[in-house]
Amino acid sequence: MGTREHEIYDIVGIGFGPSNLSLAIALEEHQSNTSDQPVTSVFFERQAAFGWHRNMLLPQATMQISFLKDLATFRNPVSRYSFVSYLHASDRLVQFVNNQDFFPTRQEFHQYLEWAESHFSDRVTYNAEVTGVRLARDAGTGPEQCLQVEVRDTVSGATRSVLARNVAVSTGLVPRMPTGMERDERVWHSSEFLAKYGRMDPAELNHVAVVGAGQSAAEITKFLHDMLPHAQVSAVLPSYGYSVADDTPFANQVFDPAAVDHYYYGTETTRDAFWRYHKNTNYSVVDDDVIRELFRRAYEEEVAGEQRLRFLNLTRVKEVKRSGNDTRVVLHSLLDGETEQEMDVDALVFATGYSTMDATALLGELDRHCLRDEQGRHRVERDYRVVTDEDLSCGIYLQGGTEHTHGLTSSLLSNIAVRSGEIAESVLRRRPSPTAARGEA
Ligand code: FDA
Ligand code: NAP
Repeated sequence: MGTREHEIYDIVGIGFGPSNLSLAIALEEHQSNTSDQPVTSVFFERQAAFGWHRNMLLPQATMQISFLKDLATFRNPVSRYSFVSYLHASDRLVQFVNNQDFFPTRQEFHQYLEWAESHFSDRVTYNAEVTGVRLARDAGTGPEQCLQVEVRDTVSGATRSVLARNVAVSTGLVPRMPTGMERDERVWHSSEFLAKYGRMDPAELNHVAVVGAGQSAAEITKFLHDMLPHAQVSAVLPSYGYSVADDTPFANQVFDPAAVDHYYYGTETTRDAFWRYHKNTNYSVVDDDVIRELFRRAYEEEVAGEQRLRFLNLTRVKEVKRSGNDTRVVLHSLLDGETEQEMDVDALVFATGYSTMDATALLGELDRHCLRDEQGRHRVERDYRVVTDEDLSCGIYLQGGTEHTHGLTSSLLSNIAVRSGEIAESVLRRRPSPTAARGEA
């Protein structure tokens, strides 16, 4: 899409994953209910087209939230952008109900997201990486102040900028490798799994290993076991086997919109309790059916006397030695804290999780106007707006990276419909009146 150079957009979205897609929907639905001046918005996405963790779209992998926790329903149950609307438009609503499953496959949910995105393509530029945000030159401190968002075309390398009263930073989770481990064509992080796996000749993969005990690790282990019937598959687990993701009704309440208030307005003790008791709803845990399936496979192999799926419990990777196509992994056993063994593999997958979004680098110089708590983390208002000093009146909204203030849903889909609605409302509420923006008394 084309952006207008001198226009000051009410909000510029950085990244166009589910969070900012949900924000685009919230802004549009607000507009259709009011005669207010339209909220102007544009979004920039560095990928070539819409894609939601494409490298983990493994066959049969299912969603970890109900289909009703889609882009809009919890904010607006009659939204035309709901998952139910998508099913209806795809002529699949009846069969979906007959299937009696709250948890669609990730592939189906991806189709839903693409369908929703197709209604907003006039507001998004792809192959467009935001490289920085700064105060526009000559910007005052009043309502006329605006931000300059720097954008690089990832194909041509050309740069340009757009002006904004607010930005919504939604750049997503950051893949995390263990310290000292480097990725290459044989050593992968789970976030690049399908792309890198697709470049290999499966016949050359005779021994593969997966590091980690979370959902990504378990799904990749199962996938490799399915796809490489000739290969040894080793799961390197820091724990004593996989632990189950608590998906039971009481625990699920930590993802409720109301839990955000309890977390945000709670004390340090409240917040600590959320993490202490309920971290196992999301981190380093695996869905029950996947755990049972992996165990069953290994047991059947044991019975048949042909073990090719192995679980190395309480084991960590100490070192990876690479030479050409050879990959030697040095393993350290936590069983006695001493034993080391070496293992040769044809591919090694680190499913070692993600770090939370951090807007600091993107904000650059602007970050000095953003206030931080005693632990150095951004202070964030309830409406997801970064607390800034009095010299900055523009809004920096965070969709992600707010675990410390808003709790567990920060990096998840569970609450994006409501969160996006809250951000849209905040932008509208704080919008200067047309006369103030023109500097009239
Ligand atoms: P997301 O990461 O999806 O999107 C961010 C976008 O910003 C990306 O498209 C990226 O390319 C773009 N971007 C980054 N930097 C940029 C820049 N400088 N300029 C322009 N664009 C930039 N949660 C859940 O609740 N239920 C679930 O079932 C799952 N399933 C799941 C599967 C897998 C494999 C993973 C890794 C994670 C999940 N999650 C999840 C959690 C996940 O964080 C969540 O599903 C969404 O991806 C969050 O959406 P966002 O839009 O916030 O980030
Ligand atoms: P994760 O839950 O953070 O798990 C990472 C795993 O790697 C943990 O077992 C962790 O162990 C281990 N690990 C980290 N550093 C390590 C190291 N140096 N050496 C050995 N092990 C190490 O990450 P994830 O599995 O990628 O999941 C991330 C998010 O994506 C979650 O929200 C998850 O639910 C979601 N997800 C969803 C789906 C789906 O929808 N189907 C699929 C995949 C992922 P420790 O516990 O010791 O740190």
